[in-house]
Amino acid sequence: DWTMSAYRAEMVRKIKEQVGSERVLCALSGGVDSSVAAILIHEAIGDQLTCVFVDHGLMRMNEADEVVSMFRDHYNIPLVHVDASDKFIGELEGVADPETKRKIIGRLFIEVFEDEAKKIASDGKGAPSFLAQGTLYPDVIESVSFSGGPSVTIKSHHNVGGLPDRMNMKLVEPLRELFKDEVRALGRELGLPDRFIGRHPFPGPGLAIRCPGGVTREKLDILRKADAVYLDEIRKAGLYDKIWQAFAVLLPVQTVGVMGDYRTYDFVCALRAVTSVDGMTADFFPYDMNFLGRAATRIINEVKGINRVVYDITSKPPGTIEWE
Ligand code: XMP
Repeated sequence: DWTMSAYRAEMVRKIKEQVGSERVLCALSGGVDSSVAAILIHEAIGDQLTCVFVDHGLMRMNEADEVVSMFRDHYNIPLVHVDASDKFIGELEGVADPETKRKIIGRLFIEVFEDEAKKIASDGKGAPSFLAQGTLYPDVIESVSFSGGPSVTIKSHHNVGGLPDRMNMKLVEPLRELFKDEVRALGRELGLPDRFIGRHPFPGPGLAIRCPGGVTREKLDILRKADAVYLDEIRKAGLYDKIWQAFAVLLPVQTVGVMGDYRTYDFVCALRAVTSVDGMTADFFPYDMNFLGRAATRIINEVKGINRVVYDITSKPPGTIEWE
């Protein structure tokens, strides 16, 4: 539409003005926000931009492949795909505190980007002096304070809050003034496929913050499978677009169950689904009980390691959308 195309042109102009002839490294997370930021910056400065997709091993099922192919095939934007899952999962192993997990993930992202910046500079055309991120307005405020309350950090978002001094890079954050619905409209204007634009938000720290307690490869695999089954049921029921965000959480609790003639002692999976306008407040989604029953039965039958499913009926506030 008219407003968005004017806005797009204005953003492109501003990016050109900020960046000049320098090089930019863009951190792609696979979500709508960083993808929109990358496409916009690519439009503004072309091959001065290098996009890096860091696969931290904390993605959902098939997610990494989908993102890589969309950028390379659909947009023809070169993309460096870094498989850093051993590094991330190795450092997270045994860490249970939510803020510590977030900080480790944030630090590792920076380390990976520093390495990639060095590799880019090795072509002799100079090191990137800008780091681009898809930070939105709500990310900016929530890291600073919680509306109506005292100024405390609720969660440190891994992608907000500046960079370590030694990195010597400036930030380009073209979406910093936008809310999610505006980013989606901009994504449509840029030709992103509807299915991609309509995707639920996914946090930078990924499945690590949906695995309360210590993270292990085994737990992540169980969670990834449960999450895929849950989302498949949501799509089949035609509910995906009515929900702001839906996901499975793997609890660090084992309970007793029975499967056929056997006693089981497996993990509990919590299902979450909320409606929201901007993620700042949210209501739990009022599923029909038959839907929940179907999703629970499928998860327990199809995912080894889970023998009990519960539904989270907490709204935000007082809960947050994610469990950590
Ligand atoms: P909470 O859990 O704080 O989440 O109610 C609000 C929205 O933000 C997402 N979220 C994040 N997004 N980096 C992100 O890019 C993060 O560290 C992060 N933590 C939470 C969350 O999924 C929800 O959409």
